[in-house]
Amino acid sequence: MGSVILIGFMGAGKTTVGRAYAKSMGIPFADTDDLIEKEAGMTVSEIFESRGEGEFRKMETAVLCRLRTDKGEKVISTGGGLALREENQKLLRDIGRVAFLSVRPETVLKRLEGDASRPLLRGGDVKERIENLLLLRDPIYQKVADLSLRVDDRQVDEIAKELAERLGELK
Ligand code: S3P
Repeated sequence: MGSVILIGFMGAGKTTVGRAYAKSMGIPFADTDDLIEKEAGMTVSEIFESRGEGEFRKMETAVLCRLRTDKGEKVISTGGGLALREENQKLLRDIGRVAFLSVRPETVLKRLEGDASRPLLRGGDVKERIENLLLLRDPIYQKVADLSLRVDDRQVDEIAKELAERLGELK
């Protein structure tokens, strides 16, 4: 069946939905931010602070290259900026089918207000930042994905179930 990759904005629930879907299918789950943090021995925020965003983006591509050489089928959730780079987009397509979890700015704000772990949302007018980033990013997520799902006001299991159905329709 091949691997499934979840892309989308911060707070869309890529990790939560990915875990639930992987569990329901009985296949392994991986999260690119987790893999990077484990390898670097630092949190994403610490990497941004000490090495800069550019280095973090290189680490994302390196992790994807490794995931591409892994043989087993798995569910992979990605950091919200990963799918934006063209070289990553090619890697994603090589790895498997790409599902975009689409989220409204109000949902992101509600979920991530006060969260200090996302360097890109820190400081200034967070609502405006989210809205502007979503405007830039949504068309790219949309273009890269094989399918997209709306996540606002929905339960994790319901989204995971729809993901399974929609992936089935792709075949
Ligand atoms: C980022 C999203 C984060 C993390 C980093 C950058 C982004 O992951 O990779 O803070 O550029 O959108 P989540 O989407 O899991 O929050």
